Amino acid sequence: MRRIALLLLFALSRSGPLGNGEAVAEPVRLFPKTVPAVSFLGEAQGKSGLTEEEAIRRIKELTEAQIQNAYRSGLRPAQRDAHAKQHGCVRADFTVLASLPSAMRQGVFAEAHTFHAWIRFSNAVGTDDQAGLARGMAIKLLGVPGRKILPDQADATTQDFLLVNYPVFNVRTAADYVDFLTKSDAGQLPLFFRAHPESERITAAIAAQPVGNPLLQRYYSMTPYALGNSKVKYSAKPVSCTTGETLHDEGGGVRSSEPDYLRAAMRARLADGASCFSFMVQRQTDPAKMPIDDSTVLWSEELAPFVTVASITIPPQRFDSPEQQAFCENLSYTPWHALPVHQPLGTINRIRRVVYDATSSLRHRLNGVPRREPSGDEHFPGSPSW
Ligand code: HEM
Repeated sequence: MRRIALLLLFALSRSGPLGNGEAVAEPVRLFPKTVPAVSFLGEAQGKSGLTEEEAIRRIKELTEAQIQNAYRSGLRPAQRDAHAKQHGCVRADFTVLASLPSAMRQGVFAEAHTFHAWIRFSNAVGTDDQAGLARGMAIKLLGVPGRKILPDQADATTQDFLLVNYPVFNVRTAADYVDFLTKSDAGQLPLFFRAHPESERITAAIAAQPVGNPLLQRYYSMTPYALGNSKVKYSAKPVSCTTGETLHDEGGGVRSSEPDYLRAAMRARLADGASCFSFMVQRQTDPAKMPIDDSTVLWSEELAPFVTVASITIPPQRFDSPEQQAFCENLSYTPWHALPVHQPLGTINRIRRVVYDATSSLRHRLNGVPRREPSGDEHFPGSPSW
């Protein structure tokens, strides 16, 4: 098996400005970065014996320590532990279709409606787009009524959908994730992959994908969610705004030598015209073949095809003024910014409930910036308003 991921792990360096950040040289890793955790090295064979709760607490500690360490070493602003490199945040319209099957008429899909949305496009790691590995598309719908899941943000009027450009996640359980982080920090990732060959296969497959333009990638939720009484995964695929035909990234394996070529590609495409996606839902039909607690398993599209429930239109716009990039940097996306009918499900999402809140709180506190959800009333130079 190709060791692309491992090579990238050690080849990348964090050395360029991220959004509104200053350039600070610092090594980066493939997935959320951590400090060494010596006490866990004895569990190098993956026999941690940790309960899920203990493992989640440990992941939170490791992740917070990493952000603290980067900040102490001079990184400004303090950044996300994952998906720190943003291409930008764009304004979009998210239009729920009129004729959906009744089982899907839940939450934000309950009725035909257009929500305004801020969509943040990112790389999972590093500052160089050639090595960004997984690419993120984080969608934040605005003006969503109803009490939300997180008690301290119950009155927020936002609903988030976080997507990445690959259908499955590369780690199965919380204990495995502790093992993954710990081995990675100790330079023992090959040991982790030896014990988890599926994780290595998925990691390499993500790294091998050609990416010419974030607006032309297909994205997936990877993890499952409730949709009323159904269990679903989500996907957004790029389509022609005029014909609705599916578009494919023309990257074709040729990667630009520019570290910010993906932002440039987005800028060029949105200067010429709009970009569109179909937002789709895949309903679980077979709990054995489409598990909730193992996000390394692909939910077969033959067993359960994706159904389009909304269209996303990103109108032509300029999105990368310093003011708008700073706004984008300070946003917080989490699958738990959600109505209860869209409750995130499964082990990986339970980890994310704790970790995203902790890292967002920490980076905002370190940066002295208030943590608040956007309203849609934001104005930036050169950017159209809604
Ligand atoms: C145990 C598993 C995971 C951990 C520990 C983790 C950790 C993180 C962290 C710490 C952040 C930054 C949060 C912030 O400071 O605001 C983040 C962002 C993100 N994660 Fe994850 N993640 C995990 C799994 C996933 C999965 C399965 C997806 C699949 C969609 C995903 C997609 C994203 C995206 C798109 C962002 C960027 C959000 C933004 O633009 O602000 N993550 N993740």
